[in-house]
Amino acid sequence: AETEIYRSSTFAPVNIAVIKYWGKRDTKLNLPTNSSLSVTLSQDDLRTHTTASCSDSFTSETLTLNDAPQDISGARTQACLRELRQLRQTLEENDSSLPKLSPMKLKIVSQNNFPAAAGLASSAAGFAALVRSIADLYALPSTPTELSRIARQGSGSACRSLFGGYVAWNQGTQLDGSDSVAYSVAEQAHWPEMRALILVASAEKKDVSSTSGMQATVATSTLFQHRVENVVPGRMEGMEKAIKERDFPAFADLTMKDSNNFHATCLDTSPSILYLNDTSRAAIRICTAINSSAEDGKPICAYTFDAGPNAVVYYLASHTDAVAGVFKGILGSELEGWEGVKGRDVKAGSVP
Ligand code: PMV
Repeated sequence: AETEIYRSSTFAPVNIAVIKYWGKRDTKLNLPTNSSLSVTLSQDDLRTHTTASCSDSFTSETLTLNDAPQDISGARTQACLRELRQLRQTLEENDSSLPKLSPMKLKIVSQNNFPAAAGLASSAAGFAALVRSIADLYALPSTPTELSRIARQGSGSACRSLFGGYVAWNQGTQLDGSDSVAYSVAEQAHWPEMRALILVASAEKKDVSSTSGMQATVATSTLFQHRVENVVPGRMEGMEKAIKERDFPAFADLTMKDSNNFHATCLDTSPSILYLNDTSRAAIRICTAINSSAEDGKPICAYTFDAGPNAVVYYLASHTDAVAGVFKGILGSELEGWEGVKGRDVKAGSVP
């Protein structure tokens, strides 16, 4: 008899946090020291597409990203695969009519629709797509929130890429991480005018990985405990409210303050972690100048930086000329696409 190949494909979007995750209370399970909140970017612009397949004929377990073989022996990837397999095994034990997929080797094929040279961390979309493609292949009845618990173990921020629109990750209190999951704050359609400008200050790989950076900050920064206890909780509430009320000035104010606060704890780490470079600081100055020239003095753009020098600038479509137009005027046509790259304009996104 022919050996059957079972297959399922899915997409997952990139997300960019406006309240940053920085610090782990459990490094094995990727349990964070604070809650965080992100905006999903449009899948037309930034996403991972993943096909998971399994068959009795496969002799080894493999993962390729943009056609390059990846190492899947790491504890993070293995944790995701183990959890998904266990869930499938339980289904198979309870229903003997189901094909026995759980013992089969998996073949996972991923493609990003943006170049590696964009310098964007893609692990969030990557792990979210990996988890959902296998969950679909295994026909697991899991909700996005349940899958976020699994994806979190691959990469913390990945748990926020199981949803579109505006997504929060609740830090949770349980030791096993069962309540450290993501939930939807609002769909993309709630605030369709949201735009993001991605400014590529460097396409190089970040020099301090988020995992080692977080651990160093937790261990040595005197500002860190203050951020976690006194700063982030109020900002999470304020940000949810700003999004629900579509209050861009409040959204922008909190976004910039939280990026600054996160990078302040990095600077306060010893030895210091410096993710921002001169180009990043120029982007901050341009945003500040744009905001101070806005008619009613309320911000119309908001910068944020992850663990690297590239800026993401949020703005509303009605302010395209005043924000994207100004950056394009300064950076020239290089802002049009990824080639020769200085960045790109993207929409806020949803998941299919
Ligand atoms: O998910 P990780 O381990 O790649 O960490 C992401 C950390 C930041 O991007 C800096 C913040 C965030 O919330 O995404």
